[in-house]
Amino acid sequence: MPRPDRYGHLPARSAPGCPAHGLGPGGLHRLHESEDLGALYEKLREEHGPVAPVLLHDDVPMWIVLGHAENLHMVRSPSQFCRDSRIWTPLRDGLVKPDHPLMPHIAWQPIASHAEGDEHKRLRGAVMGAISTIDFRSLRRYINRSTQAIVNRFCEEGEADLVGQFTEHLPMAVMCEILGMADEYNDRLVEAARDALKGTETAIASHSYVMDVLSRLTARRRARPEEDLASYLITHPARLTDDEVREHLRLVLFAAYEATTNLLSNVLLTVLIDPRFRAQLNGGQMTVPEAVEQSLWNEPPFSTVFAYFAKQETELGGQRIRRGDGLLFAPLPANVDPRVRPDLKASMQGNRSHLAFGGGPHECPGQDIGRSIADVGVDALLMRLPDVELDCDEDELRWTASIASRHLVSMPVQFAPKPPQDVSETPNHNAVPKQRDWQIGTGPAQSQPAPTAAQPQPQPQPAPAHPQPQPAPASPQAQPAAEEPVRARGAWQRFLRWWRGY
Ligand code: HEM
Repeated sequence: MPRPDRYGHLPARSAPGCPAHGLGPGGLHRLHESEDLGALYEKLREEHGPVAPVLLHDDVPMWIVLGHAENLHMVRSPSQFCRDSRIWTPLRDGLVKPDHPLMPHIAWQPIASHAEGDEHKRLRGAVMGAISTIDFRSLRRYINRSTQAIVNRFCEEGEADLVGQFTEHLPMAVMCEILGMADEYNDRLVEAARDALKGTETAIASHSYVMDVLSRLTARRRARPEEDLASYLITHPARLTDDEVREHLRLVLFAAYEATTNLLSNVLLTVLIDPRFRAQLNGGQMTVPEAVEQSLWNEPPFSTVFAYFAKQETELGGQRIRRGDGLLFAPLPANVDPRVRPDLKASMQGNRSHLAFGGGPHECPGQDIGRSIADVGVDALLMRLPDVELDCDEDELRWTASIASRHLVSMPVQFAPKPPQDVSETPNHNAVPKQRDWQIGTGPAQSQPAPTAAQPQPQPQPAPAHPQPQPAPASPQAQPAAEEPVRARGAWQRFLRWWRGY
Protein backbone atom coordinates (compact mmCIF):
# COMPACT_ATOMS: atom_id res chain seq x y z
CA MET A 1 0.00 0.00 0.00
CA PRO A 2 1.54 3.39 -0.96
CA ARG A 3 2.19 5.77 1.95
CA PRO A 4 0.22 9.03 2.13
CA ASP A 5 2.21 12.27 2.11
CA ARG A 6 2.02 15.13 4.65
CA TYR A 7 -1.43 15.99 3.25
CA GLY A 8 -2.73 12.45 3.69
CA HIS A 9 -2.82 12.21 -0.13
CA LEU A 10 -1.71 9.00 -1.80
CA PRO A 11 0.97 9.57 -4.46
CA ALA A 12 -0.16 9.98 -8.08
CA ARG A 13 -0.05 6.67 -9.93
CA SER A 14 2.22 7.92 -12.72
CA ALA A 15 5.23 10.07 -11.89
CA PRO A 16 6.29 12.64 -14.46
CA GLY A 17 9.30 11.39 -16.44
CA CYS A 18 11.05 14.64 -17.30
CA PRO A 19 12.95 16.37 -14.46
CA ALA A 20 12.05 19.77 -15.93
CA HIS A 21 8.36 18.82 -16.02
CA GLY A 22 6.27 21.62 -14.61
CA LEU A 23 9.02 24.23 -14.77
CA GLY A 24 8.68 27.53 -16.63
CA PRO A 25 10.82 30.64 -17.18
CA GLY A 26 13.31 31.27 -14.36
CA GLY A 27 12.93 27.65 -13.22
CA LEU A 28 9.67 28.57 -11.51
CA HIS A 29 7.05 25.86 -10.96
CA ARG A 30 3.87 25.89 -13.02
CA LEU A 31 1.15 25.10 -10.51
CA HIS A 32 -1.35 23.91 -13.13
CA GLU A 33 1.07 21.30 -14.48
CA SER A 34 1.68 19.65 -11.14
CA GLU A 35 0.31 16.15 -10.70
CA ASP A 36 0.71 16.33 -6.94
CA LEU A 37 0.13 19.81 -5.59
CA GLY A 38 0.63 18.73 -1.97
CA ALA A 39 4.14 17.47 -2.74
CA LEU A 40 4.88 20.62 -4.75
CA TYR A 41 3.81 22.88 -1.87
CA GLU A 42 6.23 21.08 0.47
CA LYS A 43 9.04 21.37 -2.07
CA LEU A 44 8.31 25.10 -2.43
CA ARG A 45 8.24 25.50 1.36
CA GLU A 46 11.64 23.86 1.54
CA GLU A 47 13.11 25.94 -1.27
CA HIS A 48 11.57 29.36 -0.53
CA GLY A 49 10.07 29.35 2.96
CA PRO A 50 6.48 30.45 3.74
CA VAL A 51 5.92 32.50 0.56
CA ALA A 52 7.01 31.15 -2.83
CA PRO A 53 7.04 32.46 -6.41
CA VAL A 54 5.13 30.26 -8.90
CA LEU A 55 3.55 30.46 -12.34
CA LEU A 56 -0.10 30.20 -13.38
CA HIS A 57 -1.35 29.27 -16.88
CA ASP A 58 0.43 31.23 -19.65
CA ASP A 59 3.35 31.66 -17.23
CA VAL A 60 1.65 34.49 -15.35
CA PRO A 61 3.71 35.17 -12.18
CA MET A 62 2.08 34.72 -8.79
CA TRP A 63 3.06 34.21 -5.15
CA ILE A 64 1.67 31.29 -3.19
CA VAL A 65 1.44 31.88 0.55
CA LEU A 66 2.28 28.60 2.30
CA GLY A 67 2.68 29.67 5.91
CA HIS A 68 -0.20 29.78 8.39
CA ALA A 69 0.94 33.06 9.99
CA GLU A 70 1.64 34.66 6.60
CA ASN A 71 -1.79 33.73 5.21
CA LEU A 72 -3.43 35.07 8.33
CA HIS A 73 -1.42 38.29 8.17
CA MET A 74 -2.37 38.79 4.53
CA VAL A 75 -6.13 38.32 4.95
CA ARG A 76 -6.15 40.46 8.10
CA SER A 77 -4.26 43.41 6.64
CA PRO A 78 -6.68 45.25 4.34
CA SER A 79 -4.40 48.29 4.30
CA GLN A 80 -1.73 46.20 2.53
CA PHE A 81 -3.67 43.56 0.58
CA CYS A 82 -7.02 43.64 -1.18
CA ARG A 83 -9.12 41.40 -3.42
CA ASP A 84 -9.42 43.86 -6.30
CA SER A 85 -7.77 42.27 -9.36
CA ARG A 86 -7.85 45.58 -11.24
CA ILE A 87 -4.57 46.52 -9.53
CA TRP A 88 -2.84 43.25 -10.52
CA THR A 89 0.22 44.15 -12.61
CA PRO A 90 0.11 41.16 -15.05
CA LEU A 91 -3.54 42.03 -15.82
CA ARG A 92 -2.76 45.71 -16.29
CA ASP A 93 0.22 44.82 -18.52
CA GLY A 94 -1.91 42.58 -20.75
CA LEU A 95 -0.07 39.39 -19.75
CA VAL A 96 -3.37 37.80 -18.68
CA LYS A 97 -5.36 37.13 -21.85
CA PRO A 98 -9.18 37.33 -21.89
CA ASP A 99 -9.36 33.55 -22.49
CA HIS A 100 -7.17 32.75 -19.45
CA PRO A 101 -8.68 29.63 -17.79
CA LEU A 102 -8.81 31.43 -14.43
CA MET A 103 -10.66 34.42 -15.90
CA PRO A 104 -13.95 33.63 -14.07
CA HIS A 105 -12.00 34.08 -10.80
CA ILE A 106 -9.80 36.91 -12.08
CA ALA A 107 -12.36 39.28 -13.61
CA TRP A 108 -13.40 41.90 -11.08
CA GLN A 109 -17.10 41.92 -10.23
CA PRO A 110 -19.17 44.20 -8.00
CA ILE A 111 -19.63 41.52 -5.32
CA ALA A 112 -18.61 41.30 -1.66
CA SER A 113 -15.65 38.99 -2.38
CA HIS A 114 -13.97 41.60 -4.58
CA ALA A 115 -15.11 44.77 -2.83
CA GLU A 116 -13.23 46.82 -0.25
CA GLY A 117 -13.88 49.37 2.48
CA ASP A 118 -17.35 50.92 2.65
CA GLU A 119 -18.59 49.16 -0.46
CA HIS A 120 -17.52 45.82 1.03
CA LYS A 121 -19.32 46.70 4.26
CA ARG A 122 -22.51 47.53 2.34
CA LEU A 123 -22.55 44.32 0.25
CA ARG A 124 -21.31 41.99 2.97
CA GLY A 125 -23.70 43.64 5.45
CA ALA A 126 -26.65 42.61 3.25
CA VAL A 127 -25.38 39.00 2.98
CA MET A 128 -24.69 38.79 6.71
CA GLY A 129 -28.05 40.37 7.53
CA ALA A 130 -29.86 37.83 5.33
CA ILE A 131 -27.90 34.91 6.81
CA SER A 132 -28.62 36.12 10.34
CA THR A 133 -32.37 35.53 9.77
CA ILE A 134 -31.82 31.79 9.43
CA ASP A 135 -33.25 29.74 12.26
CA PHE A 136 -30.57 27.10 12.78
CA ARG A 137 -32.85 24.66 14.50
CA SER A 138 -35.21 24.62 11.52
CA LEU A 139 -32.20 24.42 9.23
CA ARG A 140 -30.90 21.32 11.00
CA ARG A 141 -34.30 19.72 10.74
CA TYR A 142 -34.42 20.53 7.04
CA ILE A 143 -30.95 19.02 6.49
CA ASN A 144 -31.99 15.93 8.39
CA ARG A 145 -35.14 15.43 6.35
CA SER A 146 -33.42 16.16 3.07
CA THR A 147 -30.78 13.57 3.94
CA GLN A 148 -33.53 11.05 4.58
CA ALA A 149 -35.27 11.86 1.29
CA ILE A 150 -31.99 11.45 -0.62
CA VAL A 151 -31.06 8.21 1.18
CA ASN A 152 -34.56 6.88 0.35
CA ARG A 153 -33.63 7.04 -3.32
CA PHE A 154 -30.91 4.39 -3.00
CA CYS A 155 -31.31 2.62 0.35
CA GLU A 156 -33.02 -0.43 -1.21
CA GLU A 157 -30.15 -0.98 -3.64
CA GLY A 158 -27.53 -2.07 -1.10
CA GLU A 159 -24.93 0.00 -2.94
CA ALA A 160 -24.44 3.62 -3.95
CA ASP A 161 -21.96 6.21 -5.11
CA LEU A 162 -22.05 8.58 -2.17
CA VAL A 163 -20.58 11.44 -4.20
CA GLY A 164 -22.92 11.28 -7.23
CA GLN A 165 -25.97 10.24 -5.21
CA PHE A 166 -25.50 12.04 -1.91
CA THR A 167 -22.79 14.65 -1.34
CA GLU A 168 -23.48 16.45 -4.64
CA HIS A 169 -27.20 16.60 -3.83
CA LEU A 170 -27.65 17.46 -0.18
CA PRO A 171 -25.92 20.90 -0.26
CA MET A 172 -27.95 21.90 -3.33
CA ALA A 173 -31.22 20.81 -1.73
CA VAL A 174 -30.38 22.83 1.39
CA MET A 175 -29.11 25.91 -0.45
CA CYS A 176 -32.23 25.99 -2.66
CA GLU A 177 -34.37 26.03 0.47
CA ILE A 178 -32.25 28.74 2.13
CA LEU A 179 -32.28 30.93 -0.96
CA GLY A 180 -36.04 30.56 -1.39
CA MET A 181 -36.24 28.22 -4.37
CA ALA A 182 -36.89 24.80 -2.87
CA ASP A 183 -39.12 24.03 -5.88
CA GLU A 184 -36.16 24.49 -8.22
CA TYR A 185 -34.09 21.75 -6.56
CA ASN A 186 -33.82 18.87 -8.99
CA ASP A 187 -31.22 16.75 -10.79
CA ARG A 188 -31.04 19.28 -13.65
CA LEU A 189 -29.94 22.07 -11.29
CA VAL A 190 -27.36 19.83 -9.57
CA GLU A 191 -26.05 18.81 -12.98
CA ALA A 192 -25.89 22.43 -14.19
CA ALA A 193 -24.04 23.64 -11.07
CA ARG A 194 -21.51 20.79 -11.30
CA ASP A 195 -20.99 21.41 -14.99
CA ALA A 196 -20.59 25.18 -14.57
CA LEU A 197 -17.96 24.63 -11.88
CA LYS A 198 -16.06 22.02 -13.88
CA GLY A 199 -15.53 24.44 -16.76
CA THR A 200 -16.35 21.88 -19.50
CA GLU A 201 -17.43 23.05 -22.96
CA THR A 202 -21.05 23.13 -21.81
CA ALA A 203 -20.13 25.23 -18.74
CA ILE A 204 -21.36 28.52 -20.23
CA ALA A 205 -24.80 27.08 -21.05
CA SER A 206 -25.02 25.49 -17.58
CA HIS A 207 -24.02 28.76 -15.94
CA SER A 208 -26.72 30.60 -17.92
CA TYR A 209 -29.28 28.04 -16.81
CA VAL A 210 -28.43 28.67 -13.13
CA MET A 211 -28.43 32.45 -13.69
CA ASP A 212 -31.89 32.28 -15.30
CA VAL A 213 -33.20 30.46 -12.24
CA LEU A 214 -31.67 33.14 -9.98
CA SER A 215 -33.01 36.01 -12.13
CA ARG A 216 -36.52 34.58 -11.95
CA LEU A 217 -36.19 34.22 -8.18
CA THR A 218 -34.98 37.84 -7.85
CA ALA A 219 -37.91 39.15 -9.91
CA ARG A 220 -40.46 37.09 -7.97
CA ARG A 221 -39.15 38.23 -4.59
CA ARG A 222 -38.79 41.85 -5.64
CA ALA A 223 -42.49 41.76 -6.51
CA ARG A 224 -43.49 39.85 -3.37
CA PRO A 225 -40.87 39.26 -0.63
CA GLU A 226 -41.14 36.14 1.49
CA GLU A 227 -39.15 34.66 4.38
CA ASP A 228 -35.96 33.61 2.62
CA LEU A 229 -32.43 34.75 1.86
CA ALA A 230 -33.33 36.25 -1.54
CA SER A 231 -36.09 38.35 0.04
CA TYR A 232 -33.89 39.51 2.93
CA LEU A 233 -31.17 40.54 0.45
CA ILE A 234 -33.75 42.56 -1.47
CA THR A 235 -35.31 44.26 1.55
CA HIS A 236 -32.01 44.95 3.38
CA PRO A 237 -31.36 48.67 4.03
CA ALA A 238 -28.24 48.38 1.82
CA ARG A 239 -30.71 48.69 -1.10
CA LEU A 240 -29.08 46.21 -3.45
CA THR A 241 -30.03 46.50 -7.11
CA ASP A 242 -31.49 43.47 -8.89
CA ASP A 243 -28.09 42.78 -10.48
CA GLU A 244 -26.39 42.94 -7.10
CA VAL A 245 -28.99 40.62 -5.59
CA ARG A 246 -28.60 38.10 -8.42
CA GLU A 247 -24.79 38.22 -8.29
CA HIS A 248 -24.78 37.64 -4.55
CA LEU A 249 -27.23 34.77 -4.88
CA ARG A 250 -24.82 33.32 -7.44
CA LEU A 251 -21.83 33.88 -5.14
CA VAL A 252 -23.60 32.21 -2.24
CA LEU A 253 -24.99 29.32 -4.30
CA PHE A 254 -21.73 28.40 -6.03
CA ALA A 255 -19.37 29.05 -3.10
CA ALA A 256 -21.61 27.13 -0.74
CA TYR A 257 -22.38 24.30 -3.14
CA GLU A 258 -18.83 23.48 -4.16
CA ALA A 259 -17.26 23.89 -0.73
CA THR A 260 -19.95 22.02 1.17
CA THR A 261 -20.00 19.16 -1.32
CA ASN A 262 -16.25 18.77 -0.89
CA LEU A 263 -16.53 18.97 2.89
CA LEU A 264 -19.32 16.36 3.04
CA SER A 265 -17.35 13.96 0.82
CA ASN A 266 -14.19 14.44 2.84
CA VAL A 267 -15.90 13.91 6.20
CA LEU A 268 -17.71 10.81 4.98
CA LEU A 269 -14.53 9.35 3.56
CA THR A 270 -12.65 10.10 6.73
CA VAL A 271 -15.31 8.44 8.81
CA LEU A 272 -15.28 5.40 6.50
CA ILE A 273 -11.56 4.82 6.23
CA ASP A 274 -9.56 6.54 8.90
CA PRO A 275 -8.74 4.12 11.71
CA ARG A 276 -8.04 7.06 14.04
CA PHE A 277 -11.60 8.30 13.62
CA ARG A 278 -13.02 4.82 13.89
CA ALA A 279 -11.07 4.16 17.06
CA GLN A 280 -12.00 7.51 18.52
CA LEU A 281 -15.62 7.17 17.47
CA ASN A 282 -15.77 3.75 19.02
CA GLY A 283 -14.17 5.09 22.16
CA GLY A 284 -16.90 7.68 22.27
CA GLN A 285 -14.54 10.67 22.22
CA MET A 286 -14.84 11.92 18.67
CA THR A 287 -18.15 13.36 17.57
CA VAL A 288 -19.20 14.11 14.01
CA PRO A 289 -18.73 17.89 14.51
CA GLU A 290 -15.19 17.15 15.65
CA ALA A 291 -14.67 14.93 12.61
CA VAL A 292 -15.86 17.86 10.48
CA GLU A 293 -13.33 20.16 12.12
CA GLN A 294 -10.50 17.66 11.67
CA SER A 295 -11.41 17.37 8.00
CA LEU A 296 -11.38 21.18 7.65
CA TRP A 297 -7.81 21.10 8.94
CA ASN A 298 -6.59 18.23 6.77
CA GLU A 299 -8.49 18.77 3.54
CA PRO A 300 -9.93 22.29 3.37
CA PRO A 301 -12.68 22.39 0.69
CA PHE A 302 -10.88 25.25 -1.09
CA SER A 303 -7.15 24.43 -1.29
CA THR A 304 -6.41 27.95 -2.51
CA VAL A 305 -8.46 31.08 -3.14
CA PHE A 306 -7.71 33.42 -6.05
CA ALA A 307 -6.47 35.95 -4.90
CA TYR A 308 -5.16 38.85 -2.86
CA PHE A 309 -3.23 41.78 -4.39
CA ALA A 310 -0.58 43.99 -2.82
CA LYS A 311 -1.68 47.62 -2.49
CA GLN A 312 1.84 48.75 -1.66
CA GLU A 313 5.37 47.42 -1.57
CA THR A 314 5.78 45.22 1.47
CA GLU A 315 7.47 42.16 2.92
CA LEU A 316 5.78 38.82 3.56
CA GLY A 317 7.47 35.64 4.74
CA GLY A 318 10.90 37.01 3.87
CA GLN A 319 9.92 37.89 0.28
CA ARG A 320 9.80 41.37 -1.16
CA ILE A 321 6.30 41.86 -2.52
CA ARG A 322 5.87 44.67 -5.02
CA ARG A 323 2.78 46.84 -5.41
CA GLY A 324 0.39 45.11 -7.83
CA ASP A 325 1.72 41.57 -7.16
CA GLY A 326 -0.84 38.78 -6.85
CA LEU A 327 -0.84 36.25 -3.99
CA LEU A 328 -2.80 33.02 -3.66
CA PHE A 329 -4.45 32.59 -0.27
CA ALA A 330 -3.73 28.91 0.42
CA PRO A 331 -5.54 27.12 3.28
CA LEU A 332 -4.25 23.67 2.26
CA PRO A 333 -0.53 24.22 2.83
CA ALA A 334 -1.22 26.73 5.63
CA ASN A 335 -3.17 24.12 7.60
CA VAL A 336 -0.20 21.72 7.58
CA ASP A 337 2.46 24.36 8.21
CA PRO A 338 5.01 22.53 10.42
CA ARG A 339 5.25 25.63 12.62
CA VAL A 340 1.61 25.17 13.73
CA ARG A 341 1.40 21.39 13.28
CA PRO A 342 4.78 19.78 13.89
CA ASP A 343 3.03 16.44 14.35
CA LEU A 344 0.22 15.92 11.88
CA LYS A 345 -1.05 12.91 13.79
CA ALA A 346 -1.73 15.00 16.87
CA SER A 347 -5.43 15.63 17.41
CA MET A 348 -6.68 19.14 16.66
CA GLN A 349 -9.79 18.65 18.77
CA GLY A 350 -11.18 21.93 20.05
CA ASN A 351 -8.85 23.96 17.84
CA ARG A 352 -10.63 25.90 15.12
CA SER A 353 -7.73 28.05 14.00
CA HIS A 354 -7.49 26.39 10.58
CA LEU A 355 -7.89 28.63 7.56
CA ALA A 356 -10.56 26.66 5.68
CA PHE A 357 -12.98 29.60 5.97
CA GLY A 358 -10.41 32.35 5.41
CA GLY A 359 -10.10 35.18 7.89
CA GLY A 360 -10.14 38.95 8.23
CA PRO A 361 -12.80 41.14 6.61
CA HIS A 362 -13.63 38.53 3.92
CA GLU A 363 -13.92 35.55 6.26
CA CYS A 364 -16.67 33.19 5.11
CA PRO A 365 -20.02 34.35 6.48
CA GLY A 366 -21.68 30.99 5.71
CA GLN A 367 -19.38 28.73 7.72
CA ASP A 368 -21.99 27.65 10.25
CA ILE A 369 -24.30 26.63 7.41
CA GLY A 370 -21.50 24.57 5.79
CA ARG A 371 -20.67 22.97 9.13
CA SER A 372 -24.35 22.17 9.83
CA ILE A 373 -24.87 20.49 6.45
CA ALA A 374 -21.80 18.27 6.96
CA ASP A 375 -22.53 17.57 10.61
CA VAL A 376 -26.25 16.74 10.36
CA GLY A 377 -25.94 15.12 6.92
CA VAL A 378 -23.21 12.66 7.97
CA ASP A 379 -24.93 11.94 11.27
CA ALA A 380 -28.28 11.17 9.63
CA LEU A 381 -26.73 9.08 6.84
CA LEU A 382 -24.84 6.91 9.32
CA MET A 383 -28.00 6.45 11.39
CA ARG A 384 -29.79 5.16 8.29
CA LEU A 385 -26.88 3.07 6.96
CA PRO A 386 -24.77 2.10 9.98
CA ASP A 387 -23.16 -0.79 8.08
CA VAL A 388 -22.07 1.36 5.13
CA GLU A 389 -18.60 0.41 3.89
CA LEU A 390 -16.31 1.60 1.16
CA ASP A 391 -16.65 -0.76 -1.81
CA CYS A 392 -13.11 -0.37 -3.16
CA ASP A 393 -9.59 0.10 -1.91
CA GLU A 394 -8.73 3.61 -0.83
CA ASP A 395 -6.08 3.92 -3.52
CA GLU A 396 -8.67 3.07 -6.19
CA LEU A 397 -10.67 6.20 -5.37
CA ARG A 398 -10.46 8.81 -8.12
CA TRP A 399 -9.89 12.48 -7.31
CA THR A 400 -9.84 15.53 -9.51
CA ALA A 401 -7.60 18.35 -8.46
CA SER A 402 -7.25 21.90 -9.65
CA ILE A 403 -5.32 24.76 -8.08
CA ALA A 404 -8.54 25.77 -6.30
CA SER A 405 -9.75 22.48 -4.88
CA ARG A 406 -9.43 18.73 -4.79
CA HIS A 407 -12.52 16.56 -4.85
CA LEU A 408 -13.56 12.97 -5.00
CA VAL A 409 -15.05 11.84 -8.30
CA SER A 410 -16.99 9.00 -6.70
CA MET A 411 -17.25 7.05 -3.46
CA PRO A 412 -18.66 3.54 -4.09
CA VAL A 413 -20.14 2.01 -0.94
CA GLN A 414 -22.15 -1.04 -0.01
CA PHE A 415 -24.56 -1.83 2.82
CA ALA A 416 -27.41 -4.22 3.52
CA PRO A 417 -30.51 -3.03 1.62
CA LYS A 418 -32.99 -1.12 3.76
CA PRO A 419 -36.54 0.05 3.16
CA PRO A 420 -37.22 3.76 2.62
CA GLN A 421 -38.26 5.71 5.68
CA ASP A 422 -40.70 8.51 6.40
CA VAL A 423 -38.45 11.58 6.31
CA SER A 424 -40.08 13.11 9.36
CA GLU A 425 -39.15 10.09 11.51
CA THR A 426 -35.96 9.74 13.53
CA PRO A 427 -33.32 8.32 11.14
CA ASN A 428 -33.25 4.61 11.73
CA HIS A 429 -31.73 1.48 10.22
CA ASN A 430 -34.64 -0.87 9.80
CA ALA A 431 -32.88 -4.04 8.73
CA VAL A 432 -30.34 -4.22 11.53
CA PRO A 433 -27.11 -5.55 9.99
CA LYS A 434 -23.94 -6.85 11.58
CA GLN A 435 -23.13 -4.08 14.07
CA ARG A 436 -20.19 -1.86 13.46
CA ASP A 437 -20.45 0.02 16.68
CA TRP A 438 -20.72 3.53 15.26
CA GLN A 439 -20.81 5.97 18.05
CA ILE A 440 -21.74 9.09 16.23
CA GLY A 441 -23.13 12.17 17.79
CA THR A 442 -22.63 14.11 20.91
CA GLY A 443 -23.80 11.72 23.55
CA PRO A 444 -23.60 8.18 24.82
CA ALA A 445 -24.03 5.26 22.41
CA GLN A 446 -27.59 5.07 21.04
CA SER A 447 -29.11 1.66 21.34
CA GLN A 448 -31.64 1.68 18.51
CA PRO A 449 -35.12 0.43 19.43
CA ALA A 450 -36.63 -2.44 17.48
CA PRO A 451 -37.31 -1.20 13.98
CA THR A 452 -40.75 0.13 13.12
CA ALA A 453 -41.76 -0.50 9.51
CA ALA A 454 -42.20 3.10 8.54
CA GLN A 455 -44.12 3.61 5.33
CA PRO A 456 -42.53 5.87 2.71
CA GLN A 457 -44.61 9.00 2.22
CA PRO A 458 -45.25 10.40 -1.24
CA GLN A 459 -42.88 13.39 -1.72
CA PRO A 460 -42.63 14.46 1.92
CA GLN A 461 -41.89 18.16 2.37
CA PRO A 462 -39.04 18.96 4.72
CA ALA A 463 -39.53 21.83 7.14
CA PRO A 464 -38.40 25.30 5.99
CA ALA A 465 -35.10 26.78 7.16
CA HIS A 466 -36.36 30.29 7.78
CA PRO A 467 -38.83 31.07 10.55
CA GLN A 468 -42.37 30.70 9.27
CA PRO A 469 -45.56 32.33 10.45
CA GLN A 470 -46.65 29.09 12.18
CA PRO A 471 -43.98 28.65 14.89
CA ALA A 472 -42.05 25.39 15.22
CA PRO A 473 -42.36 23.59 18.55
CA ALA A 474 -40.38 25.66 20.99
CA SER A 475 -39.20 22.95 23.33
CA PRO A 476 -38.20 19.30 23.17
CA GLN A 477 -41.32 18.43 25.15
CA ALA A 478 -43.42 19.77 22.32
CA GLN A 479 -42.23 17.01 19.93
CA PRO A 480 -44.97 14.58 18.90
CA ALA A 481 -45.29 11.74 21.39
CA ALA A 482 -45.81 9.25 18.54
CA GLU A 483 -42.08 9.34 17.83
CA GLU A 484 -41.31 7.72 21.21
CA PRO A 485 -42.37 4.13 20.62
CA VAL A 486 -40.38 2.31 23.27
CA ARG A 487 -39.55 4.30 26.35
CA ALA A 488 -39.40 7.84 27.60
CA ARG A 489 -36.06 9.48 26.93
CA GLY A 490 -33.83 11.27 29.35
CA ALA A 491 -33.23 15.00 29.15
CA TRP A 492 -29.98 14.42 27.25
CA GLN A 493 -31.60 12.36 24.54
CA ARG A 494 -34.47 14.82 24.25
CA PHE A 495 -31.89 17.57 23.82
CA LEU A 496 -30.12 15.51 21.16
CA ARG A 497 -33.33 15.01 19.25
CA TRP A 498 -34.06 18.72 19.47
CA TRP A 499 -30.53 19.60 18.34
CA ARG A 500 -30.59 17.21 15.42
CA GLY A 501 -33.96 18.54 14.42
CA TYR A 502 -36.36 15.63 14.51
C1 HEM B 1 -17.75 24.14 3.91
C2 HEM B 1 -18.31 25.19 3.41
C3 HEM B 1 -17.61 26.48 3.06
C4 HEM B 1 -16.27 26.78 2.97
C5 HEM B 1 -15.07 25.87 3.22
C6 HEM B 1 -16.17 28.17 2.60
C7 HEM B 1 -14.98 28.85 2.43
C8 HEM B 1 -14.88 30.19 2.09
C9 HEM B 1 -13.63 30.90 1.89
C10 HEM B 1 -12.23 30.29 2.01
C11 HEM B 1 -13.93 32.18 1.57
C12 HEM B 1 -12.94 33.30 1.22
C13 HEM B 1 -12.43 33.97 2.47
C14 HEM B 1 -11.36 35.02 2.17
O1 HEM B 1 -11.29 35.57 1.09
O2 HEM B 1 -10.55 35.30 3.08
C15 HEM B 1 -15.38 32.30 1.56
C16 HEM B 1 -16.07 33.45 1.30
C17 HEM B 1 -17.44 33.52 1.23
N1 HEM B 1 -18.33 32.51 1.50
FE1 HEM B 1 -17.90 30.63 2.08
N2 HEM B 1 -17.43 28.68 2.46
C18 HEM B 1 -18.34 27.68 2.74
C19 HEM B 1 -19.71 27.78 2.77
C20 HEM B 1 -20.41 28.93 2.51
C21 HEM B 1 -21.84 29.06 2.61
C22 HEM B 1 -22.79 27.93 3.06
C23 HEM B 1 -22.14 30.34 2.26
C24 HEM B 1 -23.47 31.04 2.22
C25 HEM B 1 -24.56 30.64 2.75
C26 HEM B 1 -20.90 31.02 1.94
C27 HEM B 1 -20.80 32.33 1.52
C28 HEM B 1 -19.60 33.00 1.32
C29 HEM B 1 -19.53 34.41 0.91
C30 HEM B 1 -20.71 35.34 0.61
C31 HEM B 1 -18.17 34.73 0.86
C32 HEM B 1 -17.55 36.11 0.50
C33 HEM B 1 -17.38 36.93 1.79
C34 HEM B 1 -16.65 38.25 1.61
O3 HEM B 1 -15.84 38.39 0.68
O4 HEM B 1 -16.87 39.15 2.41
N3 HEM B 1 -19.87 30.13 2.11
N4 HEM B 1 -15.93 31.08 1.89
